[in-house]
Formats: sequence, structure tokens, C-alpha cells
Amino acid sequence: MIIAVDGPAASGKGTIARALARHYNLPHLDTGLLYRAVAATLLRAGLEPASEADAVASCGFEDELLGDPWLRTDEVGRLASVVSAHPPVRAALLERQRNFARQPGGAVLDGRDIGTVIAPDAEVKLFVKATPTIRAQRRHLELRKQGADTSLDKVLADIRTRDERDSQRSEAPMRQAEDAAVLDTSFLSIDAAVQRAIALVEQRTRAG
Ligand code: DC
Repeated sequence: MIIAVDGPAASGKGTIARALARHYNLPHLDTGLLYRAVAATLLRAGLEPASEADAVASCGFEDELLGDPWLRTDEVGRLASVVSAHPPVRAALLERQRNFARQPGGAVLDGRDIGTVIAPDAEVKLFVKATPTIRAQRRHLELRKQGADTSLDKVLADIRTRDERDSQRSEAPMRQAEDAAVLDTSFLSIDAAVQRAIALVEQRTRAG
């Protein structure tokens, strides 16, 4: 069984994908981390994120980099969104994601284009969303806990910019697959969102 989980930043898709992987005992790939690794490699080399050639030159990162906590920062996330808009960067990361999805026992992948491009035949597709304001509140709280000094307005503006870039790019834009089930986490606790996700998976697999 392949479970595709897509959605915007801070929608809860990562938490839900991890919980589903645990529940169904499936391997999980956070595909955003791959784009973050490209961005981090580029930043370290002092290259230019807007340059397609520089971004492509940064696609050959070592796997150990994927475990680096720096990749999870907002700075790297913002640049990951920029480098991910270059079509050759997406092409360079495509097979790796498809191979992960094709494992014999199945897999859970989360990202922006899993249900539409990476695994269009996935048995289960979820599109996880929440209002921009609520996503900004969640992210703001997280950043404050990490000791970052940033305002809610700034976090909201960043989220809107990222949504816009990720959904307007020409190649594999973030969008809900036609056969995806929508999970709006705006007014759900983490536990309730995970329970709802499991219920949707059960529904889909029974229907199939
Ligand atoms: O999910 P995330 O915040 O870690 O993703 C970082 C950026 O990577 C996101 O803004 C756009 C890009 N991304 C993508 O284009 N396609 C994916 N499947 C996953 C992430």
C-alpha cells in the first residue's frame, strides 16, 4: 500500500505521515527533506538559489546530510521552496522518490506532488490543509519555543509567499489530486487529526 500525503507548510502533513507509517508499519519518506538538502548544500557552497545551474550543481548531496537539524530551519525551508521550482532539480530527485514508493511492502511519502507526480497510482491519497492563519500560529509557537524572535505577521507572510511559490510553479505545483481525500486540520488536535487520517485510509482501502 502506498500512502501519499500532500499539503502546504505547517498543515500537519509530516506529523500525520509519520503517525500513519507507525500505525501501518510502513517506511516513511519526508520528501521536503530532499529539497532542503539541495538548498543546504547550495547555501554552504555560497551559491545562488535563483540560479538553475547552481541549484542543479547542489543535487549530489550525501545522505548523512538528511539527518542534520539545520535542514529543518525556516531559513533552509524558504530556500528549499526556491530551488524546488527549478525543473531539473525536481527531475534529479524523481527516481529516488519513486524507488522509495515502489518498495515491496509499500510506503508513506509526504510532500507537495506525491499524489499527482511521484505516485499517481497510490492506493491512498490525502491532502492535508489548514487555514494560513492557523498554520502561521502553529509555526510561530514552534519558533518561539526554539527561542526565535519573530512576529506572527512575519511568519504568516512567509507562509503565504511559500504557498504561492509552491502552488504557482510550472513543474509539479502543489495541488490536490482529483482522487485525494481532504483532511482539514484547522480545528483538530494532533491526535484527532491522526485518528481522522487513519479512518480515511481505512475507508479508502475498503472502498478499493
Ligand atoms: O515540506 P517542507 O516544508 O519540508 O518542504 C520544503 C520545500 O520543498 C517546499 O516549500 C517545496 C519543496 N517541496 C516540493 O516542491 N515538493 C515536495 N514533494 C516536497 C517539498
